[in-house]
Amino acid sequence: MGRITRLPDDLANQIAAGEVVERPASVVKELIENAIDAGATRIAITVEYGGKKLIRVEDDGTGMDPEDARLCLERHATSKISKADDLGAIVTLGFRGEALPSMASVSHFKLRTRARGSDSGTEIRVNAGIVESVVEAGGPEGTMVDVADVFYNLPARRKFLKSDGAEAAQVSRVVTQLALCYPEVGFTLTSSGKKILAVPPVTSVSDRLYQIYGDRQDLIAVEREFGGLRLHGFIAALAEQGPVRGPQHVFVNRRIVKDRTIAHAIIDSYSVATNKERSPEVHLFLEIPPDRVDVNVHPTKAEVRFREQSLVHEMVRRALGDALGKGPAPELTLRSSEIQPGRPLQPAIPGALAGGSFPSRWAPPSSNPPSSWASPVETPPASSGAAIDAPAPSSVPAVRPMIALGQFRDTFIIAMDDEGLCIIDQHVAHERVLFERIMEKLTSASLESQRLLIPAVLELPAAERAALLSKADALARFGFEVEEFGGDSIKVTSMPALLPPNECDAALRALADDLEGLDRGLRLEDALKQIAATTACHAAVKAHYPLTLEKMHHILEELRATAYSTVCPHGRPVMLRITRREIEKNFDRI
Ligand SMILES: Nc1ncnc2c1ncn2[C@@H]1O[C@H](COP(=O)(O)OP(=O)(O)OP(=O)(O)O)[C@@H](O)[C@H]1O
Ligand SMILES: [Mg+2]
Repeated sequence: MGRITRLPDDLANQIAAGEVVERPASVVKELIENAIDAGATRIAITVEYGGKKLIRVEDDGTGMDPEDARLCLERHATSKISKADDLGAIVTLGFRGEALPSMASVSHFKLRTRARGSDSGTEIRVNAGIVESVVEAGGPEGTMVDVADVFYNLPARRKFLKSDGAEAAQVSRVVTQLALCYPEVGFTLTSSGKKILAVPPVTSVSDRLYQIYGDRQDLIAVEREFGGLRLHGFIAALAEQGPVRGPQHVFVNRRIVKDRTIAHAIIDSYSVATNKERSPEVHLFLEIPPDRVDVNVHPTKAEVRFREQSLVHEMVRRALGDALGKGPAPELTLRSSEIQPGRPLQPAIPGALAGGSFPSRWAPPSSNPPSSWASPVETPPASSGAAIDAPAPSSVPAVRPMIALGQFRDTFIIAMDDEGLCIIDQHVAHERVLFERIMEKLTSASLESQRLLIPAVLELPAAERAALLSKADALARFGFEVEEFGGDSIKVTSMPALLPPNECDAALRALADDLEGLDRGLRLEDALKQIAATTACHAAVKAHYPLTLEKMHHILEELRATAYSTVCPHGRPVMLRITRREIEKNFDRI
């Protein structure tokens, strides 16, 4: 007698529900995705008690006829794929035929639907996976699903739900993400009677961003097409002095995903220009032919697998890197003694705007000619002979040639170009320039070192001493030679040539402090960057230090040649700009 039995459907569904339905927000996500797949133009979401009591999603999509309405609650019943080949190029958000039966097996569930053009609709009630009733019912064209008392029959799962507020916040996040990605669809979200979001349909992502987040001139547009891939969206600028964290929304083929390759490329592109640790706000949309990405790799479809992972990484990194390099210097607004008219008030709840049209406030995205970068995977045309990929040209410098006019308080260089006046922090600017130079020379192993006539001896606390000595190899690449000297001391026999001798002591103390504070598992690359930043900081001209005009010109010219010249390696701004327009406006010339 065998011991294996087939599980009854309702139990199989509950098991599947364990994967698909984690919390109210996952139910909301599945229902919205179904509505989008059904061609809805308006989707209304209502939740009570963070969705624990009720989740209702109504749409004006195609609806279902009575037969489909019954079928959609069966496991593996889907209208979206029908053969194995379809799995290779999925174009809908759903494809497994699992979401509805899963949620119906763990809740009090009601489906009301009416197919477009049909006289009447169908209403089906299901409790814990058991169909209670199927009746003909009225109602508008489209579909409404109620999922009430989620997990009421699985108390162990229900216990894992968080507070109503925390669950409501997750729901709101999911709705916001889907709303960002589907600007042509109108969304409303009502939570415990309060309208949280109301965004009518618009025609572009930038308009939708405006509806949700208000006017965000601080974000930079990204737009890049390469090798059949397209990346577009908006990202935080480097010079942004505000919070270093923000929402990170990454969409692949209009699907919210958490993708390590893309996340890594984002960190990489920001860390090229600044050491300041940040988790920048990004809203990025990657479009990739469906046969080059596998979406069937995660139970809630929150992850995807790229067939050409390194191509995606490289594309994202370069697109962001270039966009960041072009980020504007912060602009100073001149204030006249007149009272300025107040700025329009932001809506109390971002996105809670009623009706109306929302013209784009965004500057058109900077267009990069497709030839502005070459990927290592790009094949050169056959006629070019040698199969060597073209090196990537460096991005366009953000700074125009400027003429130094003088120095303010021996700390700031005042300069001008055709487009306005600039105030440059001499220390920060020089630090930026030296950082770039050090990193460049590090790559080509051409950093010069100077031997000290009399070795310097430094007393340091044990942890800092150990940190310096453990990174002695990395320090040697910069020209620092350090060794143990017994007791609390270390001996320094040489140091980078560009460091003024009287800075040696301070630089090494700062390095010891940096390296001690760094994570032990730190990548060598990050440690090198940290050492470069600290060395640059100590080698750079200081504030309150008089400069000749030549020296000022030199710093400006070097800065211009630097790809990322609007912030220092620690993320401080290099310069402030007063635009010509601002000056002319204040003198009533325009
Ligand atoms: N809002 C809706 N409007 C019209 N048809 C719908 C709607 N929701 C579901 N359906 C139909 O019911 C079927 C089953 O839905 P379900 O969400 O269970 O599976 P799926 O979307 O096909 O795949 P997945 O499990 O990956 O979401 C869908 O394929 C679709 O035909
Ligand atoms: Mg679905």
